[in-house]
Amino acid sequence: MSKANVGLLVREPKQKKLAPAAPVELWEPERGEVRIRVEAAGQNPADWKQLDWNFAVPSFPFILGVDVAGVVDKLGDGVTKFKVGDRVMTMTHFGAASKHGVYQKYSVVTADATISIPDSFTFDQAATIPAGFWTAALGIFTLIQIPLPLSQAKRVYPKVEGEPFLVWGGSGTVGALTVQLAAISGFNVVATASPRNFEYVKSLGAAKVLDYHDADIVDQIRAVTPNLRYAFDAICDNGSTAAMLPSLSHSNPEAAIINDIKDPVPSNVKIHRVGVGAVYREEKAEERARLLELWDVLMKESKIKPLPVKIMPDGLNSIDAGFDLMRQGKVSGQKIVYHPWQTKI
Ligand SMILES: NC(=O)c1ccc[n+]([C@@H]2O[C@H](COP(=O)([O-])OP(=O)(O)OC[C@H]3O[C@@H](n4cnc5c(N)ncnc54)[C@H](OP(=O)(O)O)[C@@H]3O)[C@@H](O)[C@H]2O)c1
Repeated sequence: MSKANVGLLVREPKQKKLAPAAPVELWEPERGEVRIRVEAAGQNPADWKQLDWNFAVPSFPFILGVDVAGVVDKLGDGVTKFKVGDRVMTMTHFGAASKHGVYQKYSVVTADATISIPDSFTFDQAATIPAGFWTAALGIFTLIQIPLPLSQAKRVYPKVEGEPFLVWGGSGTVGALTVQLAAISGFNVVATASPRNFEYVKSLGAAKVLDYHDADIVDQIRAVTPNLRYAFDAICDNGSTAAMLPSLSHSNPEAAIINDIKDPVPSNVKIHRVGVGAVYREEKAEERARLLELWDVLMKESKIKPLPVKIMPDGLNSIDAGFDLMRQGKVSGQKIVYHPWQTKI
C-alpha cells in the first residue's frame, strides 16, 4: 500500500468548507511520538468551532481533529511501549501542529498519551472515547478530586458509596463518559437528557435520567438527589449551567463546567473549569500518567462503553456534512466517525 498522505486543510481564516481532501505531508514521528495509520477519526464540536472561529489554529494551513484509533506505522526514538502493527487510540495534542490532526490518513501521536485498543473494541468504537474520557476524567478526578476507582492491585475498585452525582447532558460525548466514570467511581448518578436517550444513558450507569426540557427539572432533581454536592455540566450551553446550579443542595457544592459561562454563580459553589488541552501541559505529565493508567485498566476490563457510531460516507470528503450536523445541534446520543483511508482525491 502506498504511504502517500491525504488530509483536510484549513488553508485560510474564515474558510467555509473543509473538503475536498488534498495530498499532505507524510509526517515523521519525533522522539516519544508514533506515526499511525488512521482507521477511524471521531468528530468533536471543537473541530467545527476551530474551522468557523479559527481558535487553536496556530498557523495556516492546518489539519484539525483529535479523536483517533489506528495502527502503529512508525516509531519515533525512545518509544518502547508499542510496536509497528499495534492497534492504538488517543486524543491527540489539540491545536498544536498539523501532524497531530486526525483528519488525514496518517497522523502523529504522543506515545505517553496513547493506549492499546483491547480486542473487544473496533476501531470505530475506540474513536468515540478519547476526548470524552479525558474531559470527564480531568473534571472528576483532577479538579473535583474524587479518588481514582482503582485498587492497589490496579483493578477497578469504586471508592464512593452511593453519594449522588448530577451529570447535565448525559447523552453527549462528554456526558456519556462522565456518567460512566462517575458510576464506576461508585456514585449514584442522576443525569439529564432528552427522553429518546433515557434508556441509552441508563445503560451507561445512570440510576435516574430526567428530561432537561421540563419546566420543573430542578425540583425533579432535588427530589432524587438529597444533599447533592457534585455536578458536571457536560453541555454549558442553552442555559444548562443556570439550571444546574440551583439543583445543588449541599452547603459547599462543587461543579465542573466545560465552556466559559456568564451565569452568576452562588458564592458557596466551587466551580472547576475543565480544559482538556491541559492533558498535554508539561507540568501535568504525572497526572496524565495517572489517568492514562486508569483509562487503560477501564478499557481492558471492558468497563467503558463506546458511543453508538455514525459512519460518514466517502472518507474525509463528507466532513462538511458532518460539521453541519453538529452546527445545527442534530447529533444526539451518537458519535460521528470518518474512515480517512476511504478518501478519494
Ligand atoms: N472544555 C473542554 O475541554 C471541552 C472538551 C470537550 C467538549 N467541550 C465542549 O463541550 C460541549 C459538549 O461536547 P460533546 O462532545 O459532548 O457534544 P455532543 O456529543 O455533540 O453533544 C450532543 C448532546 O448534547 C445534548 N444537549 C444539547 N443541549 C443540551 C442541554 N441544554 N441540556 C442537556 N443536554 C443537551 C444532546 O442531548 P439530547 O439529544 O439527549 O437532548 C446531545 O446528545 C461542546 O460545547 C464542546 O465544545 C469542551
